[in-house]
Amino acid sequence: MLSIDVVTVLPELLKSPFEHSILKRAKDKKLLEVNIIDLRQFGLGKNRQVDDYQYGGGAGMVMMVEPIFNCIKELQSKSEYDEIIYLTPDGDTLNQSKANALSLNKKIMLLCGHYKGIDQRVRDHLITMEISIGDYVLSGGETAAIVLVDSIGRLLPGVLNDESSALSDSFQDNLLAPPVYTRPAQFNGWEVPEILLSGHDAKIEEWRTKAAIERTEKLRPDLLDSES
Ligand code: ADE
Repeated sequence: MLSIDVVTVLPELLKSPFEHSILKRAKDKKLLEVNIIDLRQFGLGKNRQVDDYQYGGGAGMVMMVEPIFNCIKELQSKSEYDEIIYLTPDGDTLNQSKANALSLNKKIMLLCGHYKGIDQRVRDHLITMEISIGDYVLSGGETAAIVLVDSIGRLLPGVLNDESSALSDSFQDNLLAPPVYTRPAQFNGWEVPEILLSGHDAKIEEWRTKAAIERTEKLRPDLLDSES
């Protein structure tokens, strides 16, 4: 069982994404648990303030250290975390090998940033890992957290029916997945490659490997000489 606590100022945004399809199945099978924690509960004063103007001036608010500190300490008093991850565009870019590694954990916390970001002291003293989902800026870390949980959740053993199916995803082995087809075998004069209809498992496997390599060479040649 992997348990993920997501700390956010927008808990409503995170209600539905984990209630469908593969992530719901993971939850129903008790392989994945996602808890949403409302950071505003730890906000300061009667307005439950969580952000303030930045020192030195400049546009945009910054998430304050104190509510985040209190939230993390409260959560840590109940559980031990393998990683406390801050989602941020300047973090390490997520890829399949990072998702694989994270799926081996038991308990992780995700902190979603907002506005101009969080007070640097949170990053210096409380965060153990920083992850970006790509070189673009989102309005908040929540959508990135959904992507991260999805990429990890589907890797947990037993979540996918066919155990081998996560292994045949794109990016495992640094290859894109080969093309796939389903019925009908002929549509509009467009045909399914004959080998796939042959029933010859070894030949089909050989064709798929070749097609995966060709597709990777054509679309993502960078993957073929990358380490991860
Ligand atoms: N927050 C804002 N943009 C992000 C990104 N690209 N990845 C992760 N968290 C983010």
